[in-house]
Amino acid sequence: MLLKLGLIGHPVGHSMSPWIHGKLLDQQNLQGSYELFDLEPEEFDQQIQSPEIKKLDGFNVTVPFKEKIIPYLAGLDETAKEMGAVNTVKNTSEGWIGYNTDGTGFADSLTNDYPDSLKGNTRILLLGSGGASRGIFHALAKKEVAAIDIANRTTQRAIDIIQEGSQKIKSTVLTLDEASEHLSKYDVVIQTTTVGMSPNDDQLIIPVDHLTKGTIVSDIVYRPMKTRFLQEAKKRGARLHFGHQMLLQQAVYSFKIWTETEPDASALLEEFEKKLKGV
Ligand code: ATR
Repeated sequence: MLLKLGLIGHPVGHSMSPWIHGKLLDQQNLQGSYELFDLEPEEFDQQIQSPEIKKLDGFNVTVPFKEKIIPYLAGLDETAKEMGAVNTVKNTSEGWIGYNTDGTGFADSLTNDYPDSLKGNTRILLLGSGGASRGIFHALAKKEVAAIDIANRTTQRAIDIIQEGSQKIKSTVLTLDEASEHLSKYDVVIQTTTVGMSPNDDQLIIPVDHLTKGTIVSDIVYRPMKTRFLQEAKKRGARLHFGHQMLLQQAVYSFKIWTETEPDASALLEEFEKKLKGV
């Protein structure tokens, strides 16, 4: 069988997904393709129903369509419903079913690296309140950690994330200045904004002078692989977790949904790192 997979978004030109899914197809001895579909936001309604998209067996959804896709779906899995956002669609006999693997991809890539990172006494700080932060918040809230606080430039967006969750997790909203000041209170700090993303490699979301040695610091930005935030954190003795690990894990989970195979993310990690470094 020839599997037809793809990604819809705008823009999609720099996506690593075709490379990752090409490798996963090979790893599982499956024949198929993974194509990019750059849809015009103003023409989404027509383009999403085009024959090229309809004939896909499954596809990923990225910015800015993760919410817009929902009216076209025949069903949503529990996580996607809870988050109100979809990053994976499977074409079934009942129609398109939507899933969201972003948050679990992050949480599992973190515990793969640091098995002790999400415990009952773990205090987490999320920096940022966009779609990525929301997905991570929902996934971590299921882990019964002690607290997940959110800091954002626009604090109202952080309040929205905390209020929409049905979880009983303890959460406080902070300004970015407060977050910087209180960094020593946290066991895990996760940078989810676009700050520091290439070509703005010099940008730093907050100063990390108050970071305690041994804190786990994660940045979901993967270009560059070691952001300025991670570099500064490393100088203060932090244990690092990288954005490309999340990217790979969420892709593997999408692939599992489409193919019902058990792909191995770790087997691809080294090759993916070389690819990102351009070697
Ligand atoms: P996505 O849905 O892809 O996560 P987004 O909704 O645009 O993207 O969210 C981007 C995040 O980066 C937000 O938390 C944003 O802060 P605001 O909510 O205040 O806009 C944050 N962000 C982007 N540029 C920033 C900057 N220069 N300084 C601080 N935060 C920034």
